Amino acid sequence: MSAPGPWWRDAVIYQVYPRSFADGDGDGIGDIDGIRSHLSHLADLGVDAIWMSPWYPSPMADAGYDVADFRDIDPAFGTLSEAEALISEAHAAGIRMIVDIVPNHLSSEHVWFKKALADPAAPERELFWFRPGRGEHGDEMPTDWVGEFGGTTWTRTTDPDGTPGDWYLHLFTPEQPDLNWEHPTVRAEFEDILRFWFDRGVDGIRIDSAALLFKDRTLPAVVEGRPHPFHDLDEVHDVYRAWRRVSDSYPDRALIGEVWMPEVERFANYLRPDELHAAFNFDFLGCAWDPELMRACIDRTLDAHRAVGAPATWVLSNHDVTRHVTRYGRTTTTFSFENNLDGTPVDLELGTRRARAAALLSLSLPGATYVYQGEELGLWENENIPVDRLQDPMYARRGHSRDGCRVPLPWSGDEPPFGFSTAEPWLPQPAEWKDRTVQAQTGDPSSMLELYRSAIALRRAEGGLHEPHMTWLPGAPGVLAYARGAAFACVLNMSPAAVPLPAHRSVLLTSSPLDGGDLPPDTAAWLRLAT
Ligand code: GLC
Repeated sequence: MSAPGPWWRDAVIYQVYPRSFADGDGDGIGDIDGIRSHLSHLADLGVDAIWMSPWYPSPMADAGYDVADFRDIDPAFGTLSEAEALISEAHAAGIRMIVDIVPNHLSSEHVWFKKALADPAAPERELFWFRPGRGEHGDEMPTDWVGEFGGTTWTRTTDPDGTPGDWYLHLFTPEQPDLNWEHPTVRAEFEDILRFWFDRGVDGIRIDSAALLFKDRTLPAVVEGRPHPFHDLDEVHDVYRAWRRVSDSYPDRALIGEVWMPEVERFANYLRPDELHAAFNFDFLGCAWDPELMRACIDRTLDAHRAVGAPATWVLSNHDVTRHVTRYGRTTTTFSFENNLDGTPVDLELGTRRARAAALLSLSLPGATYVYQGEELGLWENENIPVDRLQDPMYARRGHSRDGCRVPLPWSGDEPPFGFSTAEPWLPQPAEWKDRTVQAQTGDPSSMLELYRSAIALRRAEGGLHEPHMTWLPGAPGVLAYARGAAFACVLNMSPAAVPLPAHRSVLLTSSPLDGGDLPPDTAAWLRLAT
């Protein structure tokens, strides 16, 4: 059964983190060859699209989010012609391709920045944020802004004669200089990059750090209650209107924003009909495992999206956040970068049980659902990576590393590298993942993998799951129950006791076995209703 409307409104989108998906050339780092040879995993899973985290040439100061050339592929991952082959093979398998574009900053190895650094008079300086320092000798940073990874946001340059020069702005690491989006060359360049990838058949663009592009040129301090100098400035919407004109000039393309924004109305501004098609729902990702908070989050999400006619998205994990098996196994089940829960006790059995239920929730709410690689295998955060193996630049600044969710996938066998590579993987895999390999889970009806496969297949086949809306059904305290149309319901028991199921014709799928016909705690069921 095919869904009404464009694909991006209700797709299941699988995030591939290329370093960690599968290694084809035996260097311990995932690559395009590895992805091509495991495409059948994604076809069997039944996903509609792949979102590919950055695969461009990069010094990897921030795992590829420091891009040196948007029109090529990093040699560690392969070549441009291999990328083109992957795009056509994915299409042949019925899977669309989304690439990741990082407009806020470039790599310090990008040719523009190298020219800008080499010569203070170079016109490329205007493409970035070079400013004199404060104080008598210019040796104080132009602002005291705190970076997105924590730490400072300016680095001082040295002039060709060896004397200290201006400072440049970087909201992330010093290897990621921020672009000046007031400059027409920057705008033209990125519109051209979009066309470059659309011309290669790419179906969508994921926009990194989408709300940060503009900065208040007067460089004010960050003061509570005053407009933020670099978060969500109004000028950014003009850029996305222009990008929408580019994407609209191709059939069926989508723009998907990474917009971290607590205020839902400001978030929804990015999704107005002439701007982005969709944006990641971090409100849902960060929501505690709590029935009232979850219900309120779902309502808030649906209301905000309805107001602008955009589809909601449902996201549980990605390459930046603690894997949700781990989050849901903790006493505090929320996620925020500010509140680092690393090393606090985790009940992985409970976390897995809840993650199974969350899968049925996120795959049955109206809108598009994102699956981060490995979540379909029930992987947990590897919190035991030796400090000397950590690579994430966030670790030095915040004491929290995102490497634990970026560990290479286990495919087969009883011990690391679990078929990921023939060499030692770039990050260590837990030995306990021997039960979580694709091979071990395939054909086991109680596995996470088979749960995802069944749920995604049902999502396609069940008419109710194509209904554009959901309606809440009455439920006992702690139970979330909603219908999609007259024939489908999802019931999630977040209370501590088993509850009876509402009247139904048949049970389509449950995340854990029923208990004498009742729905146990931390379990979800998909029901066909009598019509
Ligand atoms: C986004 C990416 C993250 C990266 C940052 C800087 O938040 O998801 O991985 O470090 O932007 O590009």
